[in-house]
Amino acid sequence: MSHHRLAARMSVIGASPTAEISNKVRSLRAAGFDVVNLGEGELDFATPEAIADAGVAAIRGGDTKYTAVGGTAKLKAAIVDKFRNENGLVYEPNQVIAGAGAKQLIFNAFFATLEAGDEVVVPAPYWVSYPDMIRLAGGTPVAVPTRREDRWILRPEDLEKAITPRTRWLILNSPNNPTGSLYSAAEVKALTDVLLRHPDVLVMSDDIYEHVLYRGTFATPAAVEPALFDRVLTINGMSKGYSMTGWRLGFAGGPAWLISAMEVLQSQSTAHPSSISQAAAVAGLNGGHPFMEGWLKVLKERRDVMMEMIAATDGLEADEPEGAFYLFADCGGLIGRRTPTGEVLADSLDVATHLLEAAHVGVVHGEAFGTPAHIRFAYAVDTAVLRRACARVSEAVAKLRR
Ligand SMILES: Cc1ncc(COP(=O)(O)O)c(C=O)c1O
Repeated sequence: MSHHRLAARMSVIGASPTAEISNKVRSLRAAGFDVVNLGEGELDFATPEAIADAGVAAIRGGDTKYTAVGGTAKLKAAIVDKFRNENGLVYEPNQVIAGAGAKQLIFNAFFATLEAGDEVVVPAPYWVSYPDMIRLAGGTPVAVPTRREDRWILRPEDLEKAITPRTRWLILNSPNNPTGSLYSAAEVKALTDVLLRHPDVLVMSDDIYEHVLYRGTFATPAAVEPALFDRVLTINGMSKGYSMTGWRLGFAGGPAWLISAMEVLQSQSTAHPSSISQAAAVAGLNGGHPFMEGWLKVLKERRDVMMEMIAATDGLEADEPEGAFYLFADCGGLIGRRTPTGEVLADSLDVATHLLEAAHVGVVHGEAFGTPAHIRFAYAVDTAVLRRACARVSEAVAKLRR
């Protein structure tokens, strides 16, 4: 039927692979199975009460009208303060913007800057959405593999080799999804040193997991190398550090020319993020992180549950992550093994599918992150449930035949 015709641009992207896993999880649950979804990148904690209260007060107080496209003056002031106080980054209000999640801001930045054929250097493993967002904007993602023996940190010489005259952006994400790795200031500096030699390349620093950090010190490129300040877009948001995924509130700081272009795009698409979420974000940003210590204690315990399971399971390997709430496990040892019904696990998608079907545990296959032979466990779920899931994974793996 000709009215079912979609725009050609739709053919360059697919639905998020993590959403696919979630769909399968939902249908198994609907069929009555106890499924543990370790596929979704979301904290299970409630939004802190003071922040939720600020949202409710916004609704009751009539903060329910259109606002400025890039965020209210109050929110912009809170974002400016956050960057100054937590990161040593001094932005003017016209150099910051709020959007409906970090995701929308990343999309808008690519959409505003990429021409056909422009390249974006994306260290792999990467967050699943980067390559599709780049493609949708007409650009070309250039995946540069990182290595487990380097703690998944991009080597400066690999960055140097990946840069061409068409390179428009480098995207960095620390603490990292899916590896949990943190770039030290020295590791960031080694990369910004390369970029000093390439004045046309912009840097997108996705700092969304900044506060979900077990050890080490967070470092962000615009602060590590002030000479790059004018070409770094620093992305952050409320989703992970404040357990506010559903509120859809992200923010960014960067050069005014880029921020204003992102604002124009936003004005003709989604407009401003919800006025209610903005009011809640003001309370969150101005209120600091009194809840974080408690959250990290719980998350650390869960990380340890995961690490114990990995250590006890023949065929899975991983190193202890420094931050975020993911474990990126090497499952190369399982590939080639047979399931009890005789099917051979040929790749990490087969491993993930088998764990879902046999252990009723949802994980995401490494191919989705550009790194085969791995699977990602997102462990921000109830600790007792996590223990149960880990036991079922071990059991399912033990039943595989060589
Ligand atoms: C690396 C990374 N960046 C950005 C996002 C998007 O966050 P938001 O909810 O603010 O859109 C996520 C969410 O999973 C993420 O993992």
